[in-house]
Amino acid sequence: MNFWRQLPKPFFALAPMEDVTDTVFRELIASISSPDKLHVVFTEFMSVEGFLHDRGKEKVSHRLFVSRKEREILKARGIKLVAQIWGSDPEMFLNSSRLIVDQYEFDGIDINMGCPVKKIVKKSACSALIKSPELAREIVIATKEGSGLPVSVKTRIGFNEVETENWIGKLLGVNPAAITIHGRTQKMRSKGLADWNEVLKAVQLRDSLNSDTLILGNGDVSNYKEGLDRSATFRTDGIMVGRGIFGNPAFFADSEITDLHQRIQLLKKHLIHFADEWEGMKSYSLLKRFFKIYIHSFQDATSLRARLMNTNNYHEGMQVIEEFEATF
Ligand SMILES: Cc1cc2nc3c(=O)[nH]c(=O)nc-3n(C[C@H](O)[C@H](O)[C@H](O)COP(=O)(O)O)c2cc1C
Repeated sequence: MNFWRQLPKPFFALAPMEDVTDTVFRELIASISSPDKLHVVFTEFMSVEGFLHDRGKEKVSHRLFVSRKEREILKARGIKLVAQIWGSDPEMFLNSSRLIVDQYEFDGIDINMGCPVKKIVKKSACSALIKSPELAREIVIATKEGSGLPVSVKTRIGFNEVETENWIGKLLGVNPAAITIHGRTQKMRSKGLADWNEVLKAVQLRDSLNSDTLILGNGDVSNYKEGLDRSATFRTDGIMVGRGIFGNPAFFADSEITDLHQRIQLLKKHLIHFADEWEGMKSYSLLKRFFKIYIHSFQDATSLRARLMNTNNYHEGMQVIEEFEATF
């Protein structure tokens, strides 16, 4: 069943973000979001090559891990979960998507054709596929065949130059369930502004081809209202939000979380769940990015954050938080 077609319009997705959107963060965001405002979440991207490799699998498969707590919250709220994978060999996409369906429970598979990182581009994967549209098409076809799930693509508007119509036209030819378009080229990485007029061009092209692929716009959406406005102006079916969640974890909630106690509770929950799921597997330092997400905009936020940044393990982190809590 193609869940994408059953989503309301415009729908909202939390972007795949490496070392950010693991099961702990997704669960936490889903738990404070309104089911009317968040519809799809993605895993971090996972290498198909690593996944098919005996020893590599251990290193990469944590990216597809879904905790029982997360599963329950997503189910209760009707939020769909999509696994994102990357690579350059269609056969590996075929085989790994077969395994993913056998071993996990995802609603869809997304193919990363947007990551601009040099060492990945050198492997002819992710954004490099923009330069090899035939290979990109084979990959979409193989993933559909291997998974039987709706297959979507997340990409950019070009490699060195903008070439939205040419590139998106090639992708539309193999009928992905959805395409997320980040309005920057590979060359721009995350510099400059995303060009949403190019997103509109992709929508117009989709319409002119009578394709039923859904289009999500992505890039620089900083609050929910802005997402609604962009979707209306640039006629997208959906909006994907990445860094917007860093400034406001309640991005998809009905009201802001301004209360200091609530923010501290969120941070504690994150710390506890992170330790439950990942202690001994992932570095504590990965949590440091999140301190800024929860701890800001109140008196003493800067000094609390500085103290948290100096902690080296869960015990020290909790101690700093509890000492702070004791002062109010
Ligand atoms: C820390 C970080 C990690 C990211 N990891 C991924 C990833 O695993 N897969 C992917 O497709 N995009 C990844 N991206 C790109 C985002 O999904 C998104 O396309 C980009 O940040 C632009 O959207 P935004 O302006 O809403 O952040 C990542 C971005 C950031 C900031």
